[in-house]
This record gives sequence, structure tokens and C-alpha cells, in this order.
Amino acid sequence: MTDTVLVTGAGRGIGRATVERFLAGRWRAVAAVRDPDAARAALPADDRLKIIRLDVTDAGAVPDAVAEAEEFAGGPLACVVPNAGYALMGAAEDVDLAEARRMFETNLFGNVDVVQRCLPAMREAGRGSVICVSSIGARVTHPLLSMYHATKYAMSAWAEGMRIELRPLGVRVHVLEPGMVNTDFSMATRVTGGIAAGEGAYAALFEQLKLGFRAWRQEMGIGPEPVAEAAFAAATDPSAPFRIAVGADSELIGDAREAWDDEGFQDWLLGFLRLDWGQPRA
Ligand SMILES: NC(=O)c1ccc[n+]([C@@H]2O[C@H](COP(=O)([O-])OP(=O)(O)OC[C@H]3O[C@@H](n4cnc5c(N)ncnc54)[C@H](OP(=O)(O)O)[C@@H]3O)[C@@H](O)[C@H]2O)c1
Repeated sequence: MTDTVLVTGAGRGIGRATVERFLAGRWRAVAAVRDPDAARAALPADDRLKIIRLDVTDAGAVPDAVAEAEEFAGGPLACVVPNAGYALMGAAEDVDLAEARRMFETNLFGNVDVVQRCLPAMREAGRGSVICVSSIGARVTHPLLSMYHATKYAMSAWAEGMRIELRPLGVRVHVLEPGMVNTDFSMATRVTGGIAAGEGAYAALFEQLKLGFRAWRQEMGIGPEPVAEAAFAAATDPSAPFRIAVGADSELIGDAREAWDDEGFQDWLLGFLRLDWGQPRA
């Protein structure tokens, strides 16, 4: 039987490209999206594609969504790609905690809920893979994005433990670590706290960071397709590593993180992000 992948947040960006890549690889795909009409317009019409409505934070809807996906697959899923996510910006000092909790519900717990529902059948079948769309931001943290990075560290930490649990049971677990990917991600990013009002101790840092991100995006940003390619490669190659950097920027940042101690890496990152944010007070 043809293998089937389930992708969360599949209507746009990396999720959509991932669905398209698996379809091109002759798989069947279930695109879990919040807006099925928009997804139908964005994704190709294909008998091997099923679009289902799913907000991953709607715990009551997850069991039926996964059951629908398994029915379409005709059995256990061969791959699940927890991808839904967005970023929240705000200084660690005053980032809106209610918003941060909501982001964790999507980026971490919602995706975990979906994978938990898929795993029993995959484990019993003794095959398949979970390809988590994490980030190089699960290994380093940018200023004003600490809560977002916390969700990605959390996703990679969860995946790392799950990988060991599943190791002898035939289900592989991988984390993708893209750098800057040119999608709608920056438009979906929510800004909270003092920086949202252009006020406070971190307003100047925010202005610099926006410029730094723009330059990074222009110089090193990639499209979503290489991330989708990495997801497909991991799903189809049993020898794929656990952590998979995607993009030259991801490699560069990962290498720098390995090369420097914490102090040295802070300076390196300020340079990379083009931030003039001074030295610690003596
Ligand atoms: N872009 C980057 O530079 C980058 C780098 C590293 C990692 N990532 C990660 O890649 C993943 C995809 O991001 P992207 O770049 O493709 O951004 P994107 O174009 O903004 O897509 C995000 C997707 O997540 C979906 N989503 C958000 N909240 C959801 C929820 N509660 N339930 C279901 N779906 C939800 C969105 O659905 P709607 O269409 O309904 O809004 C959208 O399809 C994210 O996890 C992100 O953290 C992105």
C-alpha cells in the first residue's frame, strides 16, 4: 500500500511545500489545516491528497482528525510532520504570558497531541517516522524571541526523548532545524509588551533586530522547498541523522554555537544579527 504522511499547519509555507513534496514522491498526504477552503485553493487537486480541518490546539478535534487521516491511509500513517507554529516577540521582561501560553499550546502541546494520537498504530506496525519541524532556534536564542525559542527547544527536547523510546520499536524521530525560511512566518509573528508600543528599554534593540532580520532574510533566506526536501529525505532514509540543519545559515549558526563558549557565542550572534547592543555593565 502507498505510504501516507500527515502534516499539521499544511495550508501555507513549509507545511504546504512538504505536502507537495510527498505527493511528488508518490506518497499519499493528509493536509491538516485551519482553513480548508484556503488550502484547497493553495494545494493541487489530487486523489492522493486529503485536506482536513484541524486547529492543533483544539484537543477535542484531534482524535477525529487523526482517525480520518488513518482511514484515508487505510491503516497506520507512515509519517507525521508536526509543523504548525508561529512566533511571539517580546522582551523576556514583559512578553505577554497569556500569549506565550497560547503559543506553547500550538507549537508544542498541539503538535504533541497529534503525534500522540498517531503513534500507537505506527508503533504496532513497527514502522514510520516523526519529522518535527523545529528550528536552528532550538539550539540558539535570539533576543526578543526567547519564548518562541523556548517552544522550539521544548519540541526538540521532547523529540529527543521520544526518539530513544521508539528506537527499538521501528519508528524513527528527526528534528529539522531550518534557519531563515522565506514564508509568511514573519507576517504571522505577534509582537507583545513594550516593544509592541515602540516603548521601553528594548525599543532600540527591536528596531535594530528588524533590520538585522531583513538583511539575514535577503542574504541567506531560502524558500520552503529545501525544508520539504529534507522532510521527505528523512522520511525515506533510515540512516538520516536525528538533527537535520537546513540552509547554509543554519549550518553557520550551528557551527558557531559549537565553536564558541557561551560568552563568545553571544558576541558572535550580536555580529551575525548586526546588533550594536553594548557590553555587560562592569
Ligand atoms: N520561516 C522560518 O524562518 C522558520 C524557520 C525555522 C522553523 N520554522 C518553523 O516552521 C514551521 C512552519 O512555519 P512557516 O515558516 O511555514 O510559517 P507560515 O507560512 O506562517 O505557516 C505556519 C503554519 O502554521 C499554521 N498554524 C498556526 N497555528 C496553528 C494552529 N493552532 N493549528 C493549526 N495550524 C496552525 C498556519 O495555519 P494558518 O494558515 O491557518 O494560519 C500555517 O499553515 C513553524 O513551526 C516554524 O516555527 C520556520
